[in-house]
Amino acid sequence: MVDRLLFTIPGVRSMMKKLVGLHILQAFLIIGQTLTLSAALVGLWMGDSLTSQAKWLLLFVCFFLARHGENWFLSGLLDRFARGNAKRLRTQLLKKTFAQGPQLVQREGTGNMVTLTLDGVVQVEDYFKLVLNKMVNMMVVPVIILALAFYLDWLSGVIMLVVYPLIVLFMIVLGYAAKAQADRQFATFQRLSNHFIDSLRGIATLKYFGLSKAYSKSVYRSSEDFRKSTMATLRIAMTSTFALDFFTTLSIAILAVTLGVRLIDGQMTLYPALVILVLAPEYFLPIRNFANDYHATLNGKNSFHKVVSLIKEESAPQATVDLHPWAKDDQLQVKDLAFSYGEQTAGLAPLSFSLNGYQKVGIIGMSGSGKTTLINLLSGFLTPASGTVSLQGQAVTTLTDPAWQRQLTYIPQSPYLFSATLRENIAFYHPTASDEEIAAAVKVVGLEKLVAELPQGLDTEIGAGKRALSGGQAQRIALARAFLDPDRRVMIFDEPTAHLDLETELELKEKMLPLMKDHLVLFATHRLHWMKQMDYILVLEHGKLVEQGTYAELAAQDGAFTRLVKQMQGGTTND
Ligand SMILES: Nc1ncnc2c1ncn2[C@@H]1O[C@H](COP(=O)(O)OP(=O)(O)OP(=O)(O)O)[C@@H](O)[C@H]1O
Ligand SMILES: [Mg+2]
Repeated sequence: MVDRLLFTIPGVRSMMKKLVGLHILQAFLIIGQTLTLSAALVGLWMGDSLTSQAKWLLLFVCFFLARHGENWFLSGLLDRFARGNAKRLRTQLLKKTFAQGPQLVQREGTGNMVTLTLDGVVQVEDYFKLVLNKMVNMMVVPVIILALAFYLDWLSGVIMLVVYPLIVLFMIVLGYAAKAQADRQFATFQRLSNHFIDSLRGIATLKYFGLSKAYSKSVYRSSEDFRKSTMATLRIAMTSTFALDFFTTLSIAILAVTLGVRLIDGQMTLYPALVILVLAPEYFLPIRNFANDYHATLNGKNSFHKVVSLIKEESAPQATVDLHPWAKDDQLQVKDLAFSYGEQTAGLAPLSFSLNGYQKVGIIGMSGSGKTTLINLLSGFLTPASGTVSLQGQAVTTLTDPAWQRQLTYIPQSPYLFSATLRENIAFYHPTASDEEIAAAVKVVGLEKLVAELPQGLDTEIGAGKRALSGGQAQRIALARAFLDPDRRVMIFDEPTAHLDLETELELKEKMLPLMKDHLVLFATHRLHWMKQMDYILVLEHGKLVEQGTYAELAAQDGAFTRLVKQMQGGTTND
């Protein structure tokens, strides 16, 4: 039941030592408090005056205050420890998320990652705060109290000793049931988070198809599942709390009866009997606290394990190469590069090609042929399963190298517009760009009309929740970003015009082609008309590189490329 992973948190050992020390002190304060109170009561019972007992009462007050003062100090110590470690975990988790990139978020789900980073880490903090303290408390305080009980009256000591393992056993059985339930609850919570975010994201589509109402029912259902599993967890928690309270009260009652009978028989004096009776609830208190908080900490434990397993996940090895800005004679060589999304699913079969200097390279293939996969491998979003890559004559195992990524401009199908002004969006990778540079970028990508139309021109707020822009306009902003950064000489496009109408596409094409000059361009598309302007073409089919060459070479062969041309001309699109 002890969570071994806890012992991997930094500073945990010194914290444990402090806790052991503080709880030993605590046990002595409890004993002091009991002895002085009992002495005063026995004195009064014997008919002594209140003033003659004042010293005991005063000592009792001192012990009492010291005990609570120590508790206050202890909780401050635990707060700082838990907060510090939770903060560290959150930072590491965020770093990992950014280092792994879209791969991780796609696998775990956005909603899940968000709730894990926000709520999950808060639960982990509670877990750190509660679990170590209660564990040490349970291991130290009862032992010291028991020793005193044996010293005062061995029979009471035996009763207390015998009952304890029974309660522990009982707690373990209930603990396992609670754990299974909490695991289920954690899984439903993750499902709910992802489901909710997915529904929000897809709300436009759902609305178009008139499905939003039906879908809200499905969100309702998954939140109901979560409610039910929460209630089931609570039910177990309540039952076990009740059962524990019942058993400990019963044990104290048995103790009281045996003490009482022996008192009446004159086999015992009042003082030790009273001390044992007052100490008995304190003896059981740590285990009751532990059991009560055990349920509260289960979620924290699950989150803790999840966060740590994500942080520990192997990062893509960081090759360290020193690259100069991509130049005319540089080479990108790929040999036997392969990728798989999983055992059963498709990926890319080993492929090899060599690209030179400022070539424009078209990557073409039907939907699902692996264009995006190849683009993501080349841009370093995905880590290849095997193969080697050489950049400017230097071998690298992956393309996640920051030196390579600093050379790239990546323009996806739907570029992301940040919630900021148009100017900030354009200058996103180049925040120090001057007004003239931004004006030039606006002109070259054909955004002047939009800027003139907008109420505050370049200072209009765009992005989520603000002024919405069309797909073509978003594409132009992405191009302007690329244009503003003259140092990034490698441009990677993934179907940048896929959802634009032909007219807008052709207009943009005119703006894009000059920008591609003096750049290494990797351009994935299934629109064939782009291929005429490309210097080299890679043809993909079912995850295999089936053909490569110049447009003229490929058009002359009766191969995959001509097959693709025929297929597309036979289709409904007129590209
Ligand atoms: N995250 C993923 N997990 C598992 N399989 C995936 C994943 N992404 C893509 N695939 C599979 O890999 C294959 C290649 O997909 P990819 O997205 O690279 O194709 P594409 O050529 O870009 O298609 P499109 O033209 O539709 O964008 C497909 O069979 C696809 O189902
Ligand atoms: Mg794609």
